[in-house]
Amino acid sequence: MEVSAAEALEQLRIECEKCTRCALAETRRNVVFGEGNPEAPLMLVGEGPGETEDATGRPFVGRAGALLDEALAACRITRRHVYICNVLKCRACVIENGRVRNRPPTAAEIEACTPWLERQIEIIQPLVILCLGAPAAKFIIKKDFKMTQERGKFFPTKYARYAIAALHPAYILRQMGENYDGGKSLLIADIEAARRKVIEAKKEPKLTLF
Ligand code: URA
Repeated sequence: MEVSAAEALEQLRIECEKCTRCALAETRRNVVFGEGNPEAPLMLVGEGPGETEDATGRPFVGRAGALLDEALAACRITRRHVYICNVLKCRACVIENGRVRNRPPTAAEIEACTPWLERQIEIIQPLVILCLGAPAAKFIIKKDFKMTQERGKFFPTKYARYAIAALHPAYILRQMGENYDGGKSLLIADIEAARRKVIEAKKEPKLTLF
């Protein structure tokens, strides 16, 4: 009997929630597996959960998530149209001066965690992947991806017919004034480009060898 994408993702979520492949399992409150349309032609991949995501178990629900939702809405996209997840499923953080702060994922954490992302992609089979931030772009597109020079461009990848990278919403939130507005416009432009690419790719013939 064929298992639907929704069922396959649910089974994978159950497995992922028990993950102890790296030390983040000891400090997480929740695994943030991902959510959205299991058959979405457009998949968004961020870096990893922050404080609010760790507390709720849902991706992009903090301030960066609010900016992402605003940018998606500007392209007439809702979360029900897309699937959203992260490179890391658990929050990477450090304690500094008694305060917990997010930190970038280490190479070892990415290596331990990305088999989950690969299985998510295999199930969803998106036509287009939009990478939010450099860690996602370096994993999905190429190791030496340069955000300043290469965001907004499409690349063929083994994970999806097309992938494109955009500035991470959390990075945009750290900018001030004109830089904030400019960053937000670029994010909207890149989401819009991804939306159009999905429409285009749906019209392309499927390439099969046999
Ligand atoms: N930043 C990310 O990369 N992912 C989230 O889920 C939230 C913030």
